[in-house]
Amino acid sequence: MSEQDVNEALATAAIRVALDQAGESVATARTLLPGARARAEVTDALLGAAIRSVPRWHFAMLNDLERNDAFAVALERVVPRGAHVLDIGSGTGLLAMMAVKAGAGAVTTCEVNPVLAAVAEQIIAAHGLSDRIAVVPKLSTDLVVGVDLPRRADVVVSEIVDCGLVGEGVLPTVRHAREHLLEPGGVLLPESAVLYGALLDSQAVDGLNRVQSAAGLDVRLLNALATRGHFPVRLPTWPHRLLSASTEIAGFDFATGALTDEEVVVDFEVTESGTAHGLAVWFELRLGGGIALRNAPDNLASHWMQAFVPFAEPVGHAAGARLRIVFSWTGGRLSARQLDFVRAAEGIS
Ligand SMILES: C[S@@+](CC[C@H](N)C(=O)[O-])C[C@H]1O[C@@H](n2cnc3c(N)ncnc32)[C@H](O)[C@@H]1O
Repeated sequence: MSEQDVNEALATAAIRVALDQAGESVATARTLLPGARARAEVTDALLGAAIRSVPRWHFAMLNDLERNDAFAVALERVVPRGAHVLDIGSGTGLLAMMAVKAGAGAVTTCEVNPVLAAVAEQIIAAHGLSDRIAVVPKLSTDLVVGVDLPRRADVVVSEIVDCGLVGEGVLPTVRHAREHLLEPGGVLLPESAVLYGALLDSQAVDGLNRVQSAAGLDVRLLNALATRGHFPVRLPTWPHRLLSASTEIAGFDFATGALTDEEVVVDFEVTESGTAHGLAVWFELRLGGGIALRNAPDNLASHWMQAFVPFAEPVGHAAGARLRIVFSWTGGRLSARQLDFVRAAEGIS
């Protein structure tokens, strides 16, 4: 089968999947129409649709005590008394309620998922805070100052980062917020972040996203459907070796940085011989007030796992080599490719 035939077959199948999903969505929506709501099976369908819309990690995230404490303390330290705070991405309304506790006069919190916006509204009401916090069921980039929030905010707080920092859209979201929703000179929380990485030798981790043969049969065609970009792995749970020291890859200043898609070239010193399958990547998120969160491999308390950024092909390297990597973040996806490598012993750089 030629590559064109494979792509044709995948495209045809993908269209069928999309049509099936669209049909299912219409069928679910019909059962949820007001006239049909009384029936018991409809209640199940309704709850099912609501559950499916909420990513499962919300539970682990809310149970991450280190994360919650860090945001509470940072808000205490940076929110001026009586300030107007905009919280982007309400979830359950946690940060909005923390902002009130920290002294905010009024909080606007927006949430793109209408199910979560409804949950946040209920939780905020149950805490008697509805007069201080307005929930707007909208994407932050759709907010209109003077309509959805009374004026630009003195403080914009958000927690929209994934294991690889950029996967939930923090860069374009903060860029838009600082330009359109924040008072000039206002406070951004978090204030900055740094990505770190190390060369990773791990057949097990690589095997989460690459196949060769199974039971003696060649199944490599599936690799056309491998995850593109980074995905989460709890590194200490997999057999692995780091072939380099932790190396700074990129820094992001949320107040002044470009916060656009970019690529950088980073050199990694190979400290141990082995096969580099990709990069293990993690972040330091500096919230403000001297508070930072990290999802480095040794931090088992964090609900954020590490991000694995696979190389197109695993490559063997000897200790002493220097590996030049082109690392990019595009549309919320981290990618890495090996540019070339030089042996330090040969003195070439
Ligand atoms: C990681 S959760 C954090 C929830 C809550 N702030 C907390 O810390 O517990 C991020 C939430 O932001 C929402 N979200 C992401 N980007 C958004 C945006 N630009 N505008 C509004 N909501 C957004 C997601 O749907 C999700 O519920």
